[in-house]
This record gives sequence, C-alpha cells and structure tokens, in this order.
Amino acid sequence: MNYILAIESSCDETAAAVLKNGKELLSNVVATQIDMHKTYGGVVPEAASRAHLLSIKPVIEQAMQQAAVDYQNLSALAVTYGPGLAGSLLVGVNAAKGLSAGLDKSLISVNHIEGHIYANWLLETEPQFPAICLIVSGGHTDLVLIKDHGFYKRLGGTLDDAAGEAFDKAARVLGLPYPGGPSIEQAAQNGKASFKLPRAWLKDTYNFSFSGLKSAITRAVQEGAITNAQDGAASFQEAVCDVLIKKTLGAAQKYQVKNILLAGGVAANKYLREGFTEQSPVPVFCPPIKLCTDNAAFIAAAAYQKYLKGQFADNSLDVCPNLKLV
Ligand code: KG4
Ligand code: ZN
Repeated sequence: MNYILAIESSCDETAAAVLKNGKELLSNVVATQIDMHKTYGGVVPEAASRAHLLSIKPVIEQAMQQAAVDYQNLSALAVTYGPGLAGSLLVGVNAAKGLSAGLDKSLISVNHIEGHIYANWLLETEPQFPAICLIVSGGHTDLVLIKDHGFYKRLGGTLDDAAGEAFDKAARVLGLPYPGGPSIEQAAQNGKASFKLPRAWLKDTYNFSFSGLKSAITRAVQEGAITNAQDGAASFQEAVCDVLIKKTLGAAQKYQVKNILLAGGVAANKYLREGFTEQSPVPVFCPPIKLCTDNAAFIAAAAYQKYLKGQFADNSLDVCPNLKLV
C-alpha cells in the first residue's frame, strides 16, 4: 500500500490530503482564508502567512484522522515548494520537512502548477498522452503539451495578467465581490453578453494577453457603455473564454493530442467547461470544482508519479517562490 500525505500552502489555502495508491483520495482538507482577504480585495501576503501558521497543524491532523491512517504507515510526505508567496510556502515546507525528519519518511517536493495538472489524474478515467493542459489560475495562464508523466513543453502563456487575475480585476470594476471569478460567473448567469469586448488573438503564438480587455471593460464602465454588472460580467466571461478555448483547440489540433485537460481555479468556470466540451473534437478532462481550486489532493497525485520514479527531496529543500514548470 502507498499512502502519501501532501501539504499545500502556496497562497491563501492551507491544505492537507492523504492519497492511497495514487488514486484513492482518503481525505482532502482545505482551510480557506478567503473571508479574511475579502476585506482587502485581494491576498495580503503577511496575513496569509500568519493564518497558515495557525491552520497548518489542525489541517494536517484532520486530514490524517479522516484518512484513518497511522503516521507510521505513510509512504512519503509531499509538499508544494513553489511557485507562490514565500512566507506562505515556508509554512508548508517546514511542516513537511519536520514530519519527514521526525517520522523518517521520504520527502517529495512538488511544483504547484504541476499539482494543478495532476488534478486530472484523480478522475475515474486516466488522461492519455500526448495531452494539452490549459492551466488557468489566479497566478498562471499556461498552455502546456504533456508528452508523458513529467515531460512538459510550454507552448505559451500570458504576457501580462493571468486569466484569474483578469476575472478578479474585472469584478472589482463591475462592483462585484472578491474572488472575482465566481462572482462574475454568478452575475453572468442573469446577464447578456451584449457588449463586444476585444479579444487579443496574438496570432501564430500560443500566448495570451488580458490587459487590453481589462482596460476596455474599465473604460466601458466609466463611459457608461456598460450599465449593469450582469451584462458586463457575461460580456467579459465570453471574451476571456472565447480566446482560451479557441487557442487551446488550435494547439490540440496542431499537436494531434488525445485529450485536453483543464486545470486551475478558472477551470471551475462552467461557461468555460461547457464551451470546451461542446467544441472539442477530443475528450476534455475537467476536474470537479474542489479539485480545480487550490488543494493538497492534486499535490499528492503529482507526488505519486515522483514516488514511482524515486524522485525524492532531502532536508535541504527550500521554497522557490518563482519556480517555473519548464
Ligand atoms: O488555482 P487557484 O485556486 O489559485 C491559484 O493558484 O491562483 O485560482 C484562483 C483563481 C482566482 O483568480 C479566482 O477568481 C478564479 O481562480 N476562479 C474562477 C472561478 N473560480 C475561481 N474564475 C472564473 N470562474 C470561476 N468559477
Ligand atoms: Zn493554484
């Protein structure tokens, strides 16, 4: 039996999960700080780090209790070591290092972006290679070709704002609460995409840009062209998803992939998920919403592949706030 206890604390969620044999999720505990950061309209790094310190122990204990696994029976400890906020990452990394040393168990370091990708390996059916993964979160927008486990080619990514960041900023302009993604999705349900916002196609590349869209929606609200938040939200959601879907489908065709995988908080968006499933000629994998946003279950899933290959970290592991996938 293989049991991995994974810890995630890269941004504003303190999370721990226990995964059995790389597939069976025995527990998945997430303590979110959203309510605290809501007051400021975004994540405050200092406050996030302090909140992780308070939650880390109870979150790990709860994950182990729910899994009903003894610490001595763990096969390895896994932890996110980047990218993310340095002060937040430090809490998880030190907890994992402490447990690994105290229990004399292997330590596995996981890239947070790779974790997002591996949410797709917690589904009933396994994705087939080659696959394209669109990672769209608050901090990242990357289009990645996956040739095999751990073999990535980054085809492109955002040149400015991440897709989730764009949702958060547009929500603020429209007077909708933080985090912007879910608020925009909800508001859009009662709105019409009646305002044509610009799409940055950046032809012949797999790059994205959302800053022009952000300026356009700000101008439209200031000049009175968008008068209600619902229509603004629907117009914005359509513009972002249109570009994400078409560019990903273009890459999927060029690289003749077997599957398209969605990952990251923005992949929780139903309009995006439905758009992909309706338009894609190949099967699209969309993890359930609680596996799209930050959690430790996907860190455990990514760690399992490293465990199989014997890729372990040691006690010199440090945080890497600007870590890249490739
Ligand atoms: O992956 P995630 O939980 O954290 C990061 O690693 O960044 O992503 C958070 C981002 C936020 O920007 C949030 O607004 C966005 O994902 N998000 C959504 C939705 N749910 C979360 N964006 C669009 N539609 C949603 N339903
Ligand atoms: Zn994330």
